[in-house]
Amino acid sequence: MDYIYDDLPKQYSKAVKSSSKVLNSGRNSLFPARIRFLYPFIRHYTNLLFNFAAVNFIMHTILITGGAGFIGSNLVRLFVARYPHYTLVNLDKLTYAGNLENLKDIENAPNYHFVKGDITDMELLRNLFARYQFTGILHCAAESHVDRSITDPLAFVTTNVLGTATLLQVAKENWQGKFEDKIFYHISTDEVYGSLGETGLFTEKTGYDPRSPYSASKASSDHLVRAFYHTYQLPVKLSNCSNNYGPYHFPEKLIPLCIHNIFHNKPLPVYGEGLNVRDWLYVEDHVRAIDLIFHKGRIGETYNIGGHNEWTNIALVKELCRQMDEKLGRAAGTSAQLICFVKDRAGHDLRYAIDATKLKTELGWEPSLQFEEGLSRTIDWYLNNKEWLAHVTSGDYQQYYNQQYHKR
Ligand SMILES: NC(=O)c1ccc[n+]([C@@H]2O[C@H](COP(=O)([O-])OP(=O)(O)OC[C@H]3O[C@@H](n4cnc5c(N)ncnc54)[C@H](O)[C@@H]3O)[C@@H](O)[C@H]2O)c1
Repeated sequence: MDYIYDDLPKQYSKAVKSSSKVLNSGRNSLFPARIRFLYPFIRHYTNLLFNFAAVNFIMHTILITGGAGFIGSNLVRLFVARYPHYTLVNLDKLTYAGNLENLKDIENAPNYHFVKGDITDMELLRNLFARYQFTGILHCAAESHVDRSITDPLAFVTTNVLGTATLLQVAKENWQGKFEDKIFYHISTDEVYGSLGETGLFTEKTGYDPRSPYSASKASSDHLVRAFYHTYQLPVKLSNCSNNYGPYHFPEKLIPLCIHNIFHNKPLPVYGEGLNVRDWLYVEDHVRAIDLIFHKGRIGETYNIGGHNEWTNIALVKELCRQMDEKLGRAAGTSAQLICFVKDRAGHDLRYAIDATKLKTELGWEPSLQFEEGLSRTIDWYLNNKEWLAHVTSGDYQQYYNQQYHKR
């Protein structure tokens, strides 16, 4: 994470340089020659101190909702490592999609706390605010799977719409108009924009046209967030991101499902003719963008996040097959024989593609990985974390909370 100190205020680097001049000024040095050998160490630790001070202006206490999910856990991991001086509280209901095994490596970090609970529970939220005095909210919690929204739309309305409204209301009550250094960051999806034809890109100005209960519930939550900004000046930020992939992705979604099925020689179901197009972004690039927007994005603004990386589903599945044949030592073409076409999803959007120019020009963000490399890393992660995958597919991950937290 070397980008962490790229953006230090100039006065700090000046101070570090001038301190090194004084230390280094030969005859006139403040320090006798015999201890001048300590200079590299002094410089190193002075640097660290200044760097720490520069990112430490604000001591945030942040509520991260849905931090046990796919994107949330990658976000929690980044913030825990990068901001040891923040207090990070992960509130997650632990639905089928919430998996505390995603956070095993950081669960005992001193700046991290887990609370099991529901964002629609106003009493719980009020108690948490009273206890922690949050200055920031990173709102990831959602029902997120389009297919599930088709079978159970009300669950999506409850969590995504009512849950977001409850969180907004409790933040407003607690911050009581004292909005300096407060941030309510809502994490959303490009699916709110509807479906593109063969050309064009979604910009922040594209009108909303959601087509599934999932995207409609996310669109409603985006509107509520903006309404709280315009009506009460609640300091909000939003981002709408394209499809993510990477470590800790629940294997009901296309990429981890295919990796799992290829490994076990099971069929690879592809909707329709596989011609739907998605713009894929590596999850660590997404959480890096969230970090940047949270700290440097403008209040009241929306930022689109995307990978400039469009693939038809069928081309993507074939690329996965190709890479896995290589990694598993199978003859080229073996895994592709597992592909089978299934009845298309109802109301399946044809194409999503993001224009992330605003994020690039305002905040300098760009995706860091080529897709083939990101896919390769993702496959390696799943092959190296077979136990994680086995627990998820068997349902054993749902015992983890009881084992780890219940006894505390
Ligand atoms: N996955 C993507 O490709 C993608 C792309 C763009 C935006 N998003 C958005 O990012 C956010 C996170 O997506 P994800 O893929 O990590 O989802 P996910 O389904 O993996 O995780 C959602 C998390 O929210 C928790 N949760 C669900 N209902 C809750 C409730 N009522 N109270 C508290 N916690 C609850 C779940 O237990 C889970 O840990 C969502 O808002 C989603 O709309 C996702």
